[in-house]
This record gives sequence, structure tokens and C-alpha cells, in this order.
Amino acid sequence: MRKDRKIGFIGFGNMAQAMTDGLLRSHAVAPEQICVCAKDSGRLRRRALERGIEHAYDTAREVAEDADLVIVAVKPYLVEEVVAPIREILSGKVVVSVAAGISFDRYEEILLPGTHHLTIMPNTPVAVGEGIILCEEKHSLTDEEFGEFCRLFSGLGMIQVLPASQFGIAGDLSGCGPAFAAMFIEALADGAVLYGLARPAAYRLASQMVLGTAKLQLETGSHPGAMKDAVCSPGGLTIAGVAELERNGFRGAVIDALGAVQKRK
Ligand SMILES: NC(=O)c1ccc[n+]([C@@H]2O[C@H](COP(=O)([O-])OP(=O)(O)OC[C@H]3O[C@@H](n4cnc5c(N)ncnc54)[C@H](OP(=O)(O)O)[C@@H]3O)[C@@H](O)[C@H]2O)c1
Repeated sequence: MRKDRKIGFIGFGNMAQAMTDGLLRSHAVAPEQICVCAKDSGRLRRRALERGIEHAYDTAREVAEDADLVIVAVKPYLVEEVVAPIREILSGKVVVSVAAGISFDRYEEILLPGTHHLTIMPNTPVAVGEGIILCEEKHSLTDEEFGEFCRLFSGLGMIQVLPASQFGIAGDLSGCGPAFAAMFIEALADGAVLYGLARPAAYRLASQMVLGTAKLQLETGSHPGAMKDAVCSPGGLTIAGVAELERNGFRGAVIDALGAVQKRK
């Protein structure tokens, strides 16, 4: 990002901090190019200073005035309350929202006509450059603004543009998935600990195994079923474990987990 431009976060909770960490880690921006606000100013200042950010403001208005690109990162139920009073200022900025379930069309009702805005859904691994940032296909950024957004955030992970009809379920996969994946890592490590592996090594190895398997799939484009077959020799050890997972309904449980997420909406 050009040195004279700033990115502002309205709300500096889990997601805004993860995105900030990703931006700083990838050197997309320097700390002095970031400004932030939140509800609890003491906690905000601590979180900001930990990252070398000095522009920690008391209000969303100050962030909107100071930043060129404004990220709305408050809980969805607070979006209208926080954004509506400053929509005149936001009409001259690029507004990017991370609030789950608040679509482009909903923002058209909240913001002033003609405001340039984009709805995205990042997941927490953006903090380490291996996240997913879903972008709603329908947005009102210019090509140049969208290009700048992609350049800025490409260091945080994969950017995937999707139509509104697929945005919700993709967000559930990428947003809830880290919890499911973490449960698998924990369970695999528990199994290894049960059979004698030291706990720290068990977590490290389980995580690296998931990372490596995911990377192999992404880089080769292999079908996950073929990847499973490739490590299951006839009558071998791995197929015995695969059969046990099937007996315990592993895949059905994962599919149903996403189903349970849908039911809660
Ligand atoms: N966490 C995720 O994995 C994830 C994934 C995708 C999208 N999102 C979206 O990201 C948004 C934030 O989620 P989160 O998990 O980061 O929540 P969070 O940790 O609770 O953060 C919300 C932030 O909003 C601040 N805030 C509350 N009222 C405010 C106000 N009136 N003005 C300015 N800031 C205010 C809070 O201040 P305090 O710090 O003082 O409480 C906090 O910093 C949500 O809309 C969510 O849907 C989250």
C-alpha cells in the first residue's frame, strides 16, 4: 500500500487483529499506516501497542476520517448502529466488511448510494498468511480499488471470489473449518499420546501432517479419495485405521457438522 495511504479497523477484536497480524507479517503495510478503534479503549491501546500501532482512536468516526480503506469488523448485530452515523464520511472511502451475514445488498441499505464497498469473509489463519478471504462477487469497488485490495491482502492467504448464493456455505466451511480441523489435530495427537508419544511432539506432528496433506492436495489438485488410496496398501496399517473411521461415521459426522451450522442460521 502506498505509504501515504491508511487502513482503518472499526472494531479490533479477534478478526481485526488476525488481519492486522497478517498485513504486518506480509509487510503489506507498516504499523503507522494502520488505525483502529474499539469499545474498550484501554484494551484497544494495549492490543494496538503490542503491534506498534499508535493510531488507536476512541470512535469509529475518527477511524473513518483518517483511513482510506475502512474495514468494518464489529459483530454483525452492531454494524448498522456503528456504520449509519458515519456513512457520509464512508461515502468517500473504500469500505470492506467482514461481518458475517451482512451482504452487499444489506450494505446498500445502510450506506449512502454510490459508496464503494465490498463484503468479505476471512478466517483466522489469515494471521499467519494461510487464510482464506472470500469476496462477494457483487461489489461496488472500481477495478483499481479491487486490484489494490487483492494486492494488499494476497499475503494473508487465498482470495476467492464467489457469488452471493455460495458465499454463506463457503464462509461456514472456511470459518468453522478451523475448529473442526483443530479437533482432528487434537484427537490425532491424543491417540498418539495414548500410545506413548510426548504431547508437544504429538501436536507438532499432527499439525504438520494436516498442513502437508492440504498443501499436497492444493499443489497437485489430486482427488482427496485418491490421496487416501495412495497411502492404503492392501491389508496394510492405514486401511485398518480408515475402516475404523468409517465404522465410527467420521465422514458423516463432518458432513453433519456443516449441516448443524446451517440449522443454526
Ligand atoms: N472470528 C472469526 O473467526 C470471524 C470470521 C469471519 C468473520 N468474522 C466477523 O468479524 C466480525 C468481528 O468478529 P470478532 O470475532 O473479531 O469479534 P470480537 O472479537 O468480539 O470483536 C468485535 C470488536 O468490535 C468492537 N466494538 C464493539 N462495539 C463497538 C463500537 N460501538 N464501535 C467500535 N468497535 C466496537 C469490540 O470492542 P472491544 O474489543 O472493546 O470489545 C471488538 O474489538 C464479526 O462481524 C464476525 O462476523 C469473524
